Amino acid sequence: MFQRLRAFFGKTSALLPQALDTDNIPQHIAIIMDGNGRWAKNRGLPRIAGHHSGMKTVKRITMAADRLGVKYLTLYAFSTENWKRPKAEVEFLMKLPQQFLSIELKELIENNVQVRMMGYKEDLPSHTLEAVEEAVRQTAGNTGLVLNFALNYGSRKEMIGAVRQISEAVQAGRLAPQDIEDSHLAEHLLSAGIPDPDLLIRTSGELRLSNFMLWQLAYSEMWFTDVYWPEFTEEHFHDAVREYQRRARRYGGL
Ligand code: FPP
Repeated sequence: MFQRLRAFFGKTSALLPQALDTDNIPQHIAIIMDGNGRWAKNRGLPRIAGHHSGMKTVKRITMAADRLGVKYLTLYAFSTENWKRPKAEVEFLMKLPQQFLSIELKELIENNVQVRMMGYKEDLPSHTLEAVEEAVRQTAGNTGLVLNFALNYGSRKEMIGAVRQISEAVQAGRLAPQDIEDSHLAEHLLSAGIPDPDLLIRTSGELRLSNFMLWQLAYSEMWFTDVYWPEFTEEHFHDAVREYQRRARRYGGL
């Protein structure tokens, strides 16, 4: 029982854990999972060992988000720029979704989790895409946490795509330039239908967005930690949510 309470409250003080406000859980949390390579290097291991360990953190934090009642969890698993990495590392990263899903899909289904993918399918190896699409299919009717993998995702490419589609509508006379609003852009993004993240977490001490959800993060709270992704625990996750709950979100108002 104590362990369960502690898992829920996290550690803020040696004496009294500060409770999370269950009425103010971020609806959508997005995470830039960074530091796998450095975590491995510090241990004298190959970078891929870091990615493998990072996969276990994906499971840990998915379950933690589900327990908290988060509705959407978006994880930056592979960017459109990550193809520049050595071939062997890219190949390893492309095997992770199927490896993860072959181990975890059953439990995700038992927990009513819905798997989604946000990214460019055309460049993915068929074994990666098929595994993800199968998980998306099998969980489509689930109504719990939405686990959204940003896989081969890039925000600028996404925005250019939206601008092209809007331009076509303008050219065809379906939309007047002066009528273009936020909602037009949002509905042509890969995240269409998913609310903007309330909270962005980035691990590993880097303080940048790395082409991740640039439009959608306009009013998100940001939380950075030096902890490398493989070492990121449920307690760290609660620390981020606790800090989020201390912030006053004003959206440009007073
Ligand atoms: C960034 O760390 C991490 C990635 C590019 C890959 C993230 C992938 C995972 C955490 C596993 C994904 C799992 C599933 C199920 C899809 P880095 O390699 O850039 O670390 P570094 O900055 O320390 O080198």
